[in-house]
Amino acid sequence: MTSTHAAAKASAASPLLSVRDLAVFYGDAQALDGVSLDVNEGEIVAIIGANGAGKTSLIRSIGGVVPARSGSVRFDGREIAGLPSHVVCDLGLGQVAEGRQVFPNMSVLENLEIGAMLPRARAGAAKTLEAVFAMFPRLRERVAQPAGTLSGGEQQMLAIGRCLMGAPRLIMFDEPSMGLAPAVVLEVLNVIRQLHGRGMTVMLVEQNVAASLRLADRAYVLENGSIVLSGKGSELLGDERIKQAYLGL
Ligand SMILES: Nc1ncnc2c1ncn2[C@@H]1O[C@H](COP(=O)(O)OP(=O)(O)O)[C@@H](O)[C@H]1O
Ligand SMILES: [Mg+2]
Repeated sequence: MTSTHAAAKASAASPLLSVRDLAVFYGDAQALDGVSLDVNEGEIVAIIGANGAGKTSLIRSIGGVVPARSGSVRFDGREIAGLPSHVVCDLGLGQVAEGRQVFPNMSVLENLEIGAMLPRARAGAAKTLEAVFAMFPRLRERVAQPAGTLSGGEQQMLAIGRCLMGAPRLIMFDEPSMGLAPAVVLEVLNVIRQLHGRGMTVMLVEQNVAASLRLADRAYVLENGSIVLSGKGSELLGDERIKQAYLGL
């Protein structure tokens, strides 16, 4: 374990999300091996890793979508490993899945309403909807439009808006800018920055490594299912290993 890893661990007093020794298998194939990480309230924590490193498996196992073989996942002090995903969501741990999972035949408004079906979100849904529309004016202009007819960027905004409708305390983003035009990538990263500015806690998996390290307070590097390095975003940006492996420098 590196010194930056130890320092990052020491600074985590009482994390909102705390993962310990997480192992995930698909059949006999191990996707995650002994993963431990913390996300403190108000932080943006980036997860960096090549294709197949296990980033999506990490998000899906924390969210209860894929079962953990062993290990602990604590959210807000409560053990959540083994809980079904709708229960995890209702505790305030939201995720924006890879590939803009909107319901294409449903309208923008219906997609947003689905996000607010969580018990924790129902009472505040009208107010949250206004906040989502204030953040994404283009969604308000397109409330009745089938989600499948939105542009890629608009669909990603809708996926984020739907997650926000569930009143999350922490959002895990899985490659939110994938497949989007450069200008839209900037928009998506800006949305994450704005949410962070309003106090949202974020775990970010992003193929755009340089941008995500600039945005992140801290980051972990995942290789072959294990964390091999961690530290402040700014430190990792200057790390030779990161430069060579992920920044093409
Ligand atoms: N549903 C699945 N069934 C079997 N193997 C899977 C499944 N999903 C992912 N994997 C494997 O698990 C490993 C990690 O994948 P993934 O978590 O998607 O990585 P990343 O998101 O970092 O690209 C890869 O070897 C991948 O092939
Ligand atoms: Mg992935």
